[in-house]
Amino acid sequence: MSTTASPIRVAVTGAAGQIGYALLFRIASGAMFGPDRPVILQLIEAPVEKAMKALEGVAMELDDCAFPLLKGMVLTDQPEVGFKDANWSLLVGAKPRGPGMERADLLKDNGKIFIGQGRIIDRVAADDARVAVVGNPANTNCMIAASQAKRLTPDRFTAMVRLDQNRAQTQLAKKAGVDLTAVKDIFIYGNHSPTMVSAYCNATIGGKKATEVITDHAWLKGPFFETVGKRGAAIIAARGASSAASAANALVDHVRDLMTPGAIHSVAVKSNGLYGFDPEVWAGMPVRTTTPGSYEVITGQELCDFCKERVAITNKELVEERAAVVDMLQG
Ligand code: NAD
Ligand code: LMR
Repeated sequence: MSTTASPIRVAVTGAAGQIGYALLFRIASGAMFGPDRPVILQLIEAPVEKAMKALEGVAMELDDCAFPLLKGMVLTDQPEVGFKDANWSLLVGAKPRGPGMERADLLKDNGKIFIGQGRIIDRVAADDARVAVVGNPANTNCMIAASQAKRLTPDRFTAMVRLDQNRAQTQLAKKAGVDLTAVKDIFIYGNHSPTMVSAYCNATIGGKKATEVITDHAWLKGPFFETVGKRGAAIIAARGASSAASAANALVDHVRDLMTPGAIHSVAVKSNGLYGFDPEVWAGMPVRTTTPGSYEVITGQELCDFCKERVAITNKELVEERAAVVDMLQG
């Protein structure tokens, strides 16, 4: 393929990890930035011999795919090198939880990774830099990274709740017995944790209100919320490892939709007090992409009383997570 577009530089941390292995090939194939946009992958791993060795193997496999859009790779354990001139920085590298842990249990170990990365991205990434955080607890790690930035504004830092949106969409379709594509406008509010709010009250199925198609409202308030909120733990219990392919797929969706004007999707962003969230926390909410990489929060969604109550609970958890890492925040 020959294309005149300049390559987009995509930095990925944790590139030799599980999610990395399911993600890099999709980016290189064009699934994230489209079939006409060449990419340069800037792959960052922890300064650990085993991880860097594994990364070399992943890079060999990327070479062996002969992806026409892949115009170069950087392999490094130096964040200053890896984030240099990056247009997108995908912050995946962090410890995953094991059985019996909550994502917030990772705060102390993972939070500090995002201090250094936030600072370095702010210093060396491209002027149009965008950041997507996946490493858990994603909302709070994103807040930590964003707080380090002086040049890049908070809106450049987003965290992923798209996996939760995708999970919720599938559960609604299965319950209604319809094709997945019939389910629209299911958005995730709040934390990427069991307190997340899968706001079924504004979803539609086949053009009708989801609450009219699924008349079992006890299911919506109970098993539906529970299944989506605890899906990560169910996968860990079944697989013995946290979700990887579906997480990578959700990240492809997250970035692709943020690069597609008009796309409406769930993203965790600085709340600025919208929907009753504390203004300083990063909370999932529906956004509309305006220009590639930029978005506006959709503010007109009226939530039902049940979802409003749940928003208060997930907000409380985000505020508590913030209090637990307040010493890691700048500014
Ligand atoms: P993994 O252990 O397979 O891979 C993580 C990789 O990150 C490892 O290769 C490790 O060496 C690397 N790493 C650690 N510290 C680093 C650093 N400072 N810089 C660069 N690389 C570093 O884990 P995984 O399954 O790929 O999951 C990664 C993270 O994503 C976990 O925190 C997990 O909980 C999270 N996750 C989030 C979602 C979501 O929806 N937000 C979904 C799934 C997983
Ligand atoms: C998920 O939702 O699958 C991930 O966040 C992994 C986890 O710890 O649940």
